[in-house]
Amino acid sequence: MGVFNRLFKKTPQLEPADLSILKTDVHSHLIAGIDDGVKTIDEAIVMLRKFIELGYTKVITTPHVMSDYYKNTPEIINAGLDDLQAEVQRLNLPIAVEAAAEYYLDHNLSQLIESKNILTFGDNYMLFELSFTTEQNRIKESMFELITEGYKPIIAHIERYPFYFNEWAKIEDYRNRGVLIQVNTNSLSGQYGPQVKKMAEELIDRDWVDLIGSDSHHLGHLEVLDGLRTNPHLHKIIAKENLLNKFL
Ligand SMILES: [Fe+2]
Repeated sequence: MGVFNRLFKKTPQLEPADLSILKTDVHSHLIAGIDDGVKTIDEAIVMLRKFIELGYTKVITTPHVMSDYYKNTPEIINAGLDDLQAEVQRLNLPIAVEAAAEYYLDHNLSQLIESKNILTFGDNYMLFELSFTTEQNRIKESMFELITEGYKPIIAHIERYPFYFNEWAKIEDYRNRGVLIQVNTNSLSGQYGPQVKKMAEELIDRDWVDLIGSDSHHLGHLEVLDGLRTNPHLHKIIAKENLLNKFL
């Protein structure tokens, strides 16, 4: 090896990771026509085939529930799931499909918690998201309500909220209260911007990530994930032994 190569040698590229170690994806929008995810069952099937190709054996899909935009109920979501599962069975695809939801923290959520009309997955895990623009003032109360009612709340893609950029004490406080942290795999690509990428990397380095999710709305998101399989932080997070994806 010449001097130039020795001095400027790049870190060797990692082998593309085998995502089958993850087993389950926990965040996606695969129920046709009820949110900003897929529009048809065929589109969902194309994505499920890509999940299979990547090594996943289970997908827990999580349509938006947002009182102003996506008035999805457990009945609506489960009806869509039935249709999707029927097609998966008809095509004999080797992947299990379940559904929960991604709950937006709004005035309606308290009512849903009170009436226990919440879709969960695994051990009573409940995925929720926040406004991207402002830090809502009911966040702590809502988390407390959820935990009191026996739910295990998971903050969806915490790395994407600008008001949490480098707010490590706040994030640690949530974790101490029993809130779980989900990071989007695609945040590592920079597709949501450099700060989001940095946050995702640091959350992984701090070992604060409980679950990862594709948050895939269309095939393009899974193609980005495919391209990330040589990413060192993706390698690091999927190697985490107690990552919850592996136990769902
Ligand atoms: Fe989502």
